[in-house]
Amino acid sequence: WFANFLPFYALPLSLVMINLSPSMFDAEPNLSAMTTIYQWMTQIQKSNSELVTQHYLGKTTENRTMYYLQISQPSDKIKKIIWMDCGIHAREWISPAFCQWFVKEILQNYRSDPKIRRFLQNLDLYILPVLNIDGYIYSWEKDRLWRKNRSPHMNGTCYGTDLNRNFNSSWGSIGVSYNCSSEIFCGSGPESEPETRAVAQFIKKKKSDILCYLTIHSYGQYILTPYGSTTRPPNKNFGPLKITAKCTGTDDNIIPVLNIQMHVAEMAAAALMGKYGTSYKVGPTSLILYSNSGSSRDWAHMIGIPFSYTFELRDKGTHGFVLPPDQIQPTCEETMLAVTTIIDYVDQKYFPGGAVMLTASSLGLSLCLSVVLTWTVS
Ligand SMILES: *[C@@H]1O[C@H](CO)[C@@H](O)[C@H](O)[C@H]1NC(C)=O
Ligand SMILES: *[C@@H]1O[C@H](CO)[C@@H](O)[C@H](O)[C@H]1NC(C)=O
Ligand SMILES: *[C@@H]1O[C@H](CO)[C@@H](O)[C@H](O)[C@H]1NC(C)=O
Ligand SMILES: *[C@@H]1O[C@H](CO)[C@@H](O)[C@H](O)[C@H]1NC(C)=O
Ligand SMILES: *[C@@H]1O[C@H](CO)[C@@H](O)[C@H](O)[C@H]1NC(C)=O
Ligand SMILES: [Zn+2]
Repeated sequence: WFANFLPFYALPLSLVMINLSPSMFDAEPNLSAMTTIYQWMTQIQKSNSELVTQHYLGKTTENRTMYYLQISQPSDKIKKIIWMDCGIHAREWISPAFCQWFVKEILQNYRSDPKIRRFLQNLDLYILPVLNIDGYIYSWEKDRLWRKNRSPHMNGTCYGTDLNRNFNSSWGSIGVSYNCSSEIFCGSGPESEPETRAVAQFIKKKKSDILCYLTIHSYGQYILTPYGSTTRPPNKNFGPLKITAKCTGTDDNIIPVLNIQMHVAEMAAAALMGKYGTSYKVGPTSLILYSNSGSSRDWAHMIGIPFSYTFELRDKGTHGFVLPPDQIQPTCEETMLAVTTIIDYVDQKYFPGGAVMLTASSLGLSLCLSVVLTWTVS
């Protein structure tokens, strides 16, 4: 049985090597990170073929193949989808490490963990371990702090589009640059990049089945909700996402509008903190971090995916993108708790037999003497 997971334990060679200092790295270029992830994908599906399949998603700028892994328990039931991508920004190495960790944990524990067993009955998990493969390899080989993809511009005088500014959500409007030398160059148009297009076309095709879109970044310790391009709260109701609470006892005129998406993110952050005390901030990107446009999270929500989150993993800037190796595993462990909290919530919310408990205090309404909750259903 252990042999089933050998591929994974071999993989963390790349995890362990994640944080070689740039000087060590220059001295010994090591191409194994992406190669190992490709091998790991092949291995993990071979040794778990009852649950895992590997699928073609598209090609990168430099013609590398993008694959995603699908974890599906065989069933006659109609299931929904949770999507998670990692490594859209090349230098955020903890992110692909988390996608691999996530897959490993699910496979290792789905028989024994009642929560995982339950949500796998209703949900298929689609995991893209490295979205920006060309950039990821470049960050290993040439420039540890490379962020963008590797598309050439201006006759090859400058390289790279920020893929997380290239989605078709208020594209090019705020928090971007049109200068291809910039770290936040948004590309020549929405979905101008093959990596963005591959993801967007796939998500569009499946969107009626996708309940949750997760995209993993570092660093900063945030769980970010839409939107980045406007400070207006998301006003689309994809199912009962919002509750209106009429709060009596303090002031009858106070009618807070609570966003379930926020509420779930707060529960996820609390679960994460329970492991090692790591503190995350939760909120709309534009309010708690900065404004940006063309992000995959905003786009996924705009096209109708009810739950859409960006994770910014450890740390808060001490090491930044170059997270020390001894933090890889704890970061993955605590993040696992946050992500499974979200998936569990989505499962219980959308599938019969589930029950989502909402109380005045869990909603931050403990000052109210009584609360009238109204679910907004579109
Ligand atoms: C890359 O790193 C791995 C793990 O440390 C090592 O086994 C391998 O020999 C290295 N490859 C190169 C080309 O240096
Ligand atoms: C991309 O790779 C495929 C094989 O994987 C090859 O057939 C094709 O010619 C390549 N295209 C370019 C533009 O290099
Ligand atoms: C790119 O190169 C071509 C041919 O050398 C030239 O005609 C064109 O002006 C160049 N474009 C830019 C943006 O530099
Ligand atoms: C972007 O979205 C707009 C408005 O929804 C649409 O008209 C346009 O075709 C989209 N562009 C792409 C590249 O999908
Ligand atoms: C683009 O940015 C680079 C680097 O900051 C700068 O040197 C260059 O002048 C800028 N180009 C334009 C057209 O603004
Ligand atoms: Zn990022």
